[in-house]
Amino acid sequence: MERIFGRPIVTQEEMRARIRELGKQITTDYTGKDFVLVGVLKGAYAFYADLARAIGIPMRVDFLMVTSDGSRAKTSRKVRMVTELTEDIKGKDVLLVEDIVDSGLTAQYLVKTLTKKKPRSIKVCTLLSKPDRRTIDVAIDYVGFKIPNKYVVGYGLDYQQKYRNLPYLAVLDMEGDAG
Ligand code: IMP
Ligand code: MG
Repeated sequence: MERIFGRPIVTQEEMRARIRELGKQITTDYTGKDFVLVGVLKGAYAFYADLARAIGIPMRVDFLMVTSDGSRAKTSRKVRMVTELTEDIKGKDVLLVEDIVDSGLTAQYLVKTLTKKKPRSIKVCTLLSKPDRRTIDVAIDYVGFKIPNKYVVGYGLDYQQKYRNLPYLAVLDMEGDAG
């Protein structure tokens, strides 16, 4: 599989180093807080597992799953939560862990939805951000890597549910926009 993609745009070593830095920063920022790390499945699973182990304070772990109906290119896309949290986040400091913030729709929807459960704070950490594709102005507190407007796979990210297990980030070589 690795041969299909050629050179990674972010290598395993670069991922590891950056995630270690993010973990240190988050450790500093959340020390003494009632901390819940919430992973957004499926895309964030690989990043989440590495990030959680780079954070040196006690935490609760939880997950939710989202899907979006319709093409990635359409602004009419509807984001839905298909699996709910199991932890009660009321009064807690929540950090959402995302694979990628693209248009910003998913992050905005999740912050809005989880805010109704009255956490003490809610912030967003994403492995990747494509600032050029942002159509929704949503605050992102921690960003692993800013990447250009290219469709990427690996390290949790998929193309039609495949390539999530690629151990580095690669650009998917294809014409047009991946749906
Ligand atoms: P949003 O547009 O910010 O809501 O991002 C929606 C979702 O699109 C992300 O959580 C990813 O699952 C997916 N996505 C966006 N860009 C890429 C990419 O380059 N590769 C794989 N998935 C992507
Ligand atoms: Mg996806």
